[in-house]
Amino acid sequence: MKKANSTKLIFLVVILSLALIQSAIAQKQNFIPYALKAAEVQYKNAVKEYTDYHKFPRSTKPDGSLYTVKSSDWCSGFFSGSLWLLYDLTKDDFYKVAAKKWSVGLEKEQYNKTTHDLGFMMYISFGTGYKLIGDTNYKQIIIQSAKSLATRFHPKAGAIRSWDFGPWQYPVIIDNMMNLELLFEASRLSGIDAYKQIAIKHADHDMQNHFRKDFSSYHVVDYDSITGVAIKKQTNQGFADESAWARGQAWGLYGFTVMYRYTKDKKYLEQAEHIAAFILNHPNLPKDKVPYWDFNDPKIPDTYRDASAAAIIASALLELRKYVGKEKSTLYFKTAETILTTLSTPEYVADSGNGNFVLKHCVGNWPKGKATGEIDAAINYGDYYYLEALLRYKKAIQEHTK
Ligand code: GLY
Repeated sequence: MKKANSTKLIFLVVILSLALIQSAIAQKQNFIPYALKAAEVQYKNAVKEYTDYHKFPRSTKPDGSLYTVKSSDWCSGFFSGSLWLLYDLTKDDFYKVAAKKWSVGLEKEQYNKTTHDLGFMMYISFGTGYKLIGDTNYKQIIIQSAKSLATRFHPKAGAIRSWDFGPWQYPVIIDNMMNLELLFEASRLSGIDAYKQIAIKHADHDMQNHFRKDFSSYHVVDYDSITGVAIKKQTNQGFADESAWARGQAWGLYGFTVMYRYTKDKKYLEQAEHIAAFILNHPNLPKDKVPYWDFNDPKIPDTYRDASAAAIIASALLELRKYVGKEKSTLYFKTAETILTTLSTPEYVADSGNGNFVLKHCVGNWPKGKATGEIDAAINYGDYYYLEALLRYKKAIQEHTK
């Protein structure tokens, strides 16, 4: 009799513990419906209100009004990219129809050889769409965009040229790591190996020249256009040449994670892990894991957070966790979860106004100043990476509970 009672008790304790674990998981995930509801309201409004398909919604101006750009702007692809992600998250055809409409005006940029940002412009839009609907026209656009981007590769510098403006000879910025996914995918879709090789050479040069000993990165490296030697290391959007601009660190983390995804070369994985360690161990990273716009702004904590950097870091960590051992994987997952929990609150998420964007409090280009620098604004890439991180988190939870 006694034995039967104690077995019952053990059984009850196990059931209770399982229920508590389930409820803790459910509570943690509460931010997904909250964030999705807000995103759906905002993007449904945006699709209804914005009807000129050649004026791509980019951000909010200081007076709260919408700032739109032409298809040649580096941010032109994020709006349709976010619509594709919402289609993936909700399976609601409304977003698919809208994403297709907002892609047509971008098509001509596949021939644009004057920018390194074709990955952002064309892969975020057509690449995200292609994964969902497999449209053969999108496939050709991805391949042609890679062909255009490849023309900007200089074999001596071993890198793709970033900007055609400014005081530099051959500027390459850390952000450019984000354009390599386009080259890898175009290689896979076309069988043309050269695009992949360019991506690898570019990443190798970045590893050599963009990083400091602590694995923080410089924003801009200028190469001698004849010898290919790195001659200057500076910032354009950060606080100072020697500071760690938060979004630049996020681009590096995401970029090297993608390098490992396509090559399985351990050196890229190690690089991504080192960058993650720099970010996660930084004394100026707040407890809620949403970084200030620059890790070295002396005004911290009386300065701006950059929600876009937080979203990019969360999304990157949710991929990187798949490639590392259990301890690090848990750390990356928990950090991404903390970021998403922090962002998915009224402090960071809007369900009205905000130019119909979801995320608030992003910093685009602080040195430009409040009038034009998109400081403490809603910016479309913040939304894109926030939605991507939510999607990755949702998939991770689904896999875990299968
Ligand atoms: N150029 C990309 C960025 O501002 O992060």
